[in-house]
Amino acid sequence: MRYPEEVIEEVRMRNDIVDVISGYVKLQRKGSNYFGLCPFHNEKSPSFSVSPGKQMYYCFGCGAGGNVITFIMEYENYSFTEALNLLAERAGVALPKQEYSPEARAQEDLKKNLLEINKLAANYFYYQLKHPQGKAGYDYLKNRQLTDDTIRHFGLGFANKTSDDLYRFLKDKGYPDSLLKETGLVTIEERGAHDKFWNRVMFPILDVNNRVIGFGGRVMGDGTPKYLNSPETRLFDKSRNLFGLNYARTSREKYMLICEGYMDVIAMHQAGFTNSVASLGTAFTSQHASLLKRYTDQVVLTYDSDGAGVKAALRAIPILKDVGMSVKVLNMRPYKDPDEFIKNLGADAFRQRIEEAKNSFLFEIDVLKGQYDMEDPEQKTRFYQETARKLLEFPEALERDNYIQAVSREHFIPYEDLKRLVNQLGSRLGSGPAAAGRRDYEEKSQAKRSPKKDKDEGNRQSQRLLLTWLIENPGLFDRIQGIITADDFVEPLYHQVAQMVFQGHEENALNPAGILNHFINDEEQYREVAALFNASLKESLSNEEQKKAFSETVMKVKKNSLDAASRHAGSIEELQRIIQAQAALRSLHISLDEGIN
Ligand code: CTP
Ligand code: MN
Repeated sequence: MRYPEEVIEEVRMRNDIVDVISGYVKLQRKGSNYFGLCPFHNEKSPSFSVSPGKQMYYCFGCGAGGNVITFIMEYENYSFTEALNLLAERAGVALPKQEYSPEARAQEDLKKNLLEINKLAANYFYYQLKHPQGKAGYDYLKNRQLTDDTIRHFGLGFANKTSDDLYRFLKDKGYPDSLLKETGLVTIEERGAHDKFWNRVMFPILDVNNRVIGFGGRVMGDGTPKYLNSPETRLFDKSRNLFGLNYARTSREKYMLICEGYMDVIAMHQAGFTNSVASLGTAFTSQHASLLKRYTDQVVLTYDSDGAGVKAALRAIPILKDVGMSVKVLNMRPYKDPDEFIKNLGADAFRQRIEEAKNSFLFEIDVLKGQYDMEDPEQKTRFYQETARKLLEFPEALERDNYIQAVSREHFIPYEDLKRLVNQLGSRLGSGPAAAGRRDYEEKSQAKRSPKKDKDEGNRQSQRLLLTWLIENPGLFDRIQGIITADDFVEPLYHQVAQMVFQGHEENALNPAGILNHFINDEEQYREVAALFNASLKESLSNEEQKKAFSETVMKVKKNSLDAASRHAGSIEELQRIIQAQAALRSLHISLDEGIN
């Protein structure tokens, strides 16, 4: 699976990034870059940039970024090898075949075979549904008011009552038992082979690239379990896939709807809400949240209105907020779920409910209120206290005040009284019943805005900016000659990158898109490096301001590097050298400022 670096580089260089991306995204030239609507999240004005000079793309909206290979990986949901193959073919580069290690080859083949078998199985189930032997399933879906179009769109199917017909069908195609076992579609025991799914309507689960990675099956009638899902396989990771996302990702709404189940997603899509997804037979995870964050930053929860649904919403809210989503909760009452709601009241009423969906914090307060008997003065007081404690979770005074206003309005608590209660609770430091709340509040606000963290982030941002500037204007290397070396980038990952950047410059072969290839195996690092090459100041600066910003950034990077060195100094002599350098830096500040003018 590992191709030699020169080969990867050749494929990359022979595929101009603007050419390739133009095939997927409408790009417009603006200055030295191209801009278009980001294909990785929903947006109405273009923040997706492609740089011919750097041979990289970067979205200032969602942070997606990379080179031509990763664009194909992300857009097509391909593995690195698959993307490389596509681009090699496009540019007519022959890839050496022998570079596959036997294990890697086996892994790739396994994945390919599993995808192939899943697709065959999906076709098989669909065929059954559309023929007399699948009438029970077809009638069931019709009964649930799905149209033939919807059934086809989602590729719904039927698994027969016969307990091994799918197994025999696949066996006839020549697949060995060992492979069939890995699909999770059959169990093979000494007594014989059996289909996992039988007498169920089948929901194929597609990844964002429309490939079948698993199935859900709903029993006919009232049997248990009501829904049965494929086990996790080489292809299917429940916590990283969302049902319906393959369609929802291209819907042009600003937000996405999250619901509980297959039928809800399908009913919503059929009613025109093509921006809905569901987690599959598992609670919503932070991986789900990050996945969604690539496409949107606003969600509306449309979970069931019963106790389980409320609980699921309460669990999902902080997970979604943690990745920076704005979350609202839709009121489904008096119906149980989106499917029932839409059947009874129709799409317009549902749209109305989306518009009225409640801010997730206010939803949490509603749920809290339900736990107290508001007729009882003691319990009512407790509800107020608990509410005040929750309000303290907002570290920002202004934001907190907005919520105090909203809560006081909704629950008829006089604003001044509630505010006083919140402030009292907030200032009762470390003692009394409010201690826990206070501590909670402190921890949260500390985590969010401790001065040290802000400073560290500031230092990292300077390092990012400087690297971006150096890459975009190699002339600047002369300016920092003798002041900054790769070693001044102290953040370990940045240091690694800086070494490659400086070396590239020395050899007259500075190549950011190529540098990125080194990080292809670690998604997190990869994203960070891509962002590193695209740091920029939000507002565009005047010439004067640019010069100032540049020299300030250089100083900041150098100062941070010296400070770090002094913390790790191994000897008095070393420390003395650092102190001298720090002193020199103070006078340098002025001269560089002037030197740049
Ligand atoms: N689910 C599951 N496995 C189960 C139960 C539920 O995967 N054993 C998932 C399914 O995706 C299901 C969702 O959780 O659609 C919600 O479950 P439930 O409310 O029980 O089902 P409904 O969606 O109401 O199913 P239906 O409308 O078909 O009765
Ligand atoms: Mn239902």
